[in-house]
Amino acid sequence: MAFLAVRTLIVLMLISTFAKAANKYDYLQLVQQWPKTFCHNNRACIQGAVLPELFSIHGMWPSNFSGQNDACVGTRFSMREMRRHNHLETQLLSSSWPSYTGLSNLHFWEYEYNKHGTCSENNLKQTDYFTRADALWRRYNVTNMLLTSRHQISPGSSYRYADILYAIRQGIGGYTPLILCKQDPANNIWILHEVIICFNPLGNNVIACRRRSRYSCNSGLIDYPK
Ligand SMILES: *[C@@H]1O[C@H](CO)[C@@H](O)[C@H](O)[C@H]1NC(C)=O
Ligand SMILES: *[C@@H]1O[C@H](CO)[C@@H](O)[C@H](O)[C@H]1NC(C)=O
Repeated sequence: MAFLAVRTLIVLMLISTFAKAANKYDYLQLVQQWPKTFCHNNRACIQGAVLPELFSIHGMWPSNFSGQNDACVGTRFSMREMRRHNHLETQLLSSSWPSYTGLSNLHFWEYEYNKHGTCSENNLKQTDYFTRADALWRRYNVTNMLLTSRHQISPGSSYRYADILYAIRQGIGGYTPLILCKQDPANNIWILHEVIICFNPLGNNVIACRRRSRYSCNSGLIDYPK
């Protein structure tokens, strides 16, 4: 009897250790994308759709400074849970986190949540996760940071990488963001694609993004398409 109890205890301890380890990450990346660039040369995009001239969420990714990136385990996305929070779905996320492809918004969120969101489940359950991402998008308005910066960076022109970086940095308290580009091989230009702001694991404080991305923009002129 005592032996069985000890064995049960050990199994329980192992399970809880595993569950914790599976939910470990150092920081969150809030990835915002410029719709026009996302759809540049992208056949998944709905052709002829009118794209908003606003950065919108691509995803919010629990990440490690080491770069270690494990498949997330955790409770899968629940459509029912999302539908129970009708306001979140129809009023908030539909503008902060829209899909530009044939994938519906719900399926886009489901994909992102199952791939990334479940990694932070210990801190942010599904509804908290989406509510937090939406709130960060509203608070850290990249479109507005660019527009109101010294160089009044607005779509339809090209800007120096340093000026784009400066604008975002100013907007987030001096921390380093990541600025990602698509390269157009046809005319060898860099196109502003995504801006990543990094946060502590709970998503309530900006921190510096310490890892570079292989999609980081080259210094030089960057096209911000309209
Ligand atoms: C971060 O690394 C730890 C191991 O140090 C791992 O258990 C965890 O799954 C990783 N997190 C992500 C989001 O990949
Ligand atoms: C973000 O800033 C842009 C440009 O100033 C503005 O048009 C838009 O309404 C802002 N979005 C939100 C959610 O405040």
